[in-house]
Amino acid sequence: MKYLVTGGAGFIGGNFIHYMVNKYPEDMIVNLDKLTYAGNLETCKPVEGKPNYKFIKGDIADRPFIMDLFEKEKFDVVINFAAESHVDRSIEDPEIFVKTNVMGTTTLMDACVKYGIKRYHQVSTDEVYGDLPLDRPDLFFTEETPLHTSSPYSSAKASADLFVLAYHRTYGLPVTISRCSNNYGPYQFPEKLIPLMISRALADEPLPVYGDGANVRDWLHVYDHCVAIDLIVHDGREGEVYNVGGHNERNNLQVVKTILKTLDKPESLIHFVADRKGHDRRYAIDPKKLETELGWKPKYNFDTGMQQTIQWHLDHKEWWQHILSGEYQQYYEKMYTDKGRV
Ligand SMILES: NC(=O)c1ccc[n+]([C@@H]2O[C@H](COP(=O)([O-])OP(=O)(O)OC[C@H]3O[C@@H](n4cnc5c(N)ncnc54)[C@H](O)[C@@H]3O)[C@@H](O)[C@H]2O)c1
Repeated sequence: MKYLVTGGAGFIGGNFIHYMVNKYPEDMIVNLDKLTYAGNLETCKPVEGKPNYKFIKGDIADRPFIMDLFEKEKFDVVINFAAESHVDRSIEDPEIFVKTNVMGTTTLMDACVKYGIKRYHQVSTDEVYGDLPLDRPDLFFTEETPLHTSSPYSSAKASADLFVLAYHRTYGLPVTISRCSNNYGPYQFPEKLIPLMISRALADEPLPVYGDGANVRDWLHVYDHCVAIDLIVHDGREGEVYNVGGHNERNNLQVVKTILKTLDKPESLIHFVADRKGHDRRYAIDPKKLETELGWKPKYNFDTGMQQTIQWHLDHKEWWQHILSGEYQQYYEKMYTDKGRV
């Protein structure tokens, strides 16, 4: 089997690449990434040089390039992680979110229709469901919850999901979609809550918390997300959506306090800042369909996952310090251009 994994130099795609290259040594895993500010090839170092792994630099929204690539490579399965993924950035500049998240998705699917593939999988988010009230802990997102987005990011992701389902119905493309809650774990770009707070706490710098810190997220360790996608791609039913979540609801303040406590840092580092515009209050996933149909069970709960993640950041300071200093962006030049590999 030949897999195209897009966005594999990002956080979740990078973890998925590690998982797939090691789990399926007989299969070929091709990583296509544009290397935006969020793409970091240092994340892929552990698999570089493996015979079943290849990196290609490119944009999923570049139609001639994508058509050429599919013509040459003859992929069997496409798993699309590539996206602009940061809500705050989408509030500043929505257009690139439409281009990559919506038009990139339709471009990839047009190539899938033209060249024929066994499965197209779209990595989506629970943010397409909007948010839930804080005072109704009995409510959860199911796959039937109507789409009701808040930010330009989630609107672009929801649009892409609708196109994916339309390509299934209209062109018979064999698709699946996963909608996942907030991920955390190794190799997450340090603009997102957990790695940002870990890096700032380690530097004894103030930890900025939006509003009153009461916004609730359903935290899922990235490893459990990778296992879920592998199951859905191989055993999920075509045309279906699967929610992925670990029943690990914590508000932002609880997350920050857990980090400070684990690192033995004072809570006086917490610094409340003006709330994000349109800030979603609570996300909470009901993953019953994935559990009952495909037998998925998360390996980590919030406590074990956070311990693992904090320890990883302590053991891999170089990785995130290179991002903070901007050095990570030179890795591609060093590894690929200088050696004439591209
Ligand atoms: N991080 C989360 O908590 C979370 C939760 C649910 C769903 N998701 C979804 O999972 C996917 C991956 O998220 P992430 O957190 O790993 O994101 P990320 O920002 O860490 O990585 C995105 C990757 O996509 C690449 N990319 C961006 N535009 C591209 C383009 N036009 N062509 C090719 N590559 C491009 C970037 O270079 C980067 O490597 C996204 O689709 C996101 O919507 C993320």
